[in-house]
Amino acid sequence: IRHGIRFYVGNECHTLADVAPTRTLLDWLREDRGLTGTKEGCNEGDCGACTVLVVRLEGDRLVWRAVNACIQFVSMLDGAQVLTIEDMRAPDGSLHPVQQAMVDQHGSQCGFCTPGFVMSMVAGRKADGLAQDEHAIDDMLAGNLCRCTGYAPIVRAMRQAMQ
Ligand code: FES
Ligand code: FES
Repeated sequence: IRHGIRFYVGNECHTLADVAPTRTLLDWLREDRGLTGTKEGCNEGDCGACTVLVVRLEGDRLVWRAVNACIQFVSMLDGAQVLTIEDMRAPDGSLHPVQQAMVDQHGSQCGFCTPGFVMSMVAGRKADGLAQDEHAIDDMLAGNLCRCTGYAPIVRAMRQAMQ
């Protein structure tokens, strides 16, 4: 019998024998793992600053979901892989195509929202058949708020990243 939960963060496997049922993934990433690229904005599921990817094997395929880490309990992650903004850069240091598109299209100003947008965009690229039209991209990014850019450069970045 195995007690506790086991999941991956990036390529690192974690087995937690004793985690409080209400410990959030956001707090665990930032406080226990020191992964501060995932930001805390509202801390109640509204702003998207804390977006990470939760990857699960469902049937015979991997399903990638953008998830608000501030309302995701660690105790529900058994068997999953969590990917954070720290996992997006390639081993040679080059940026993920979504990150490069954000640079090219000036999609980041203060930068606080940027990791969350990048993670939602990466999930969007993985979605089957996501149309490239503005409305589909708007819908996909609707859970992420930005106070600086006016969104247009971010939508342009997403369009570039989809090409
Ligand atoms: Fe705002 Fe999580 S911190 S949605
Ligand atoms: Fe400042 Fe989006 S770049 S909140």
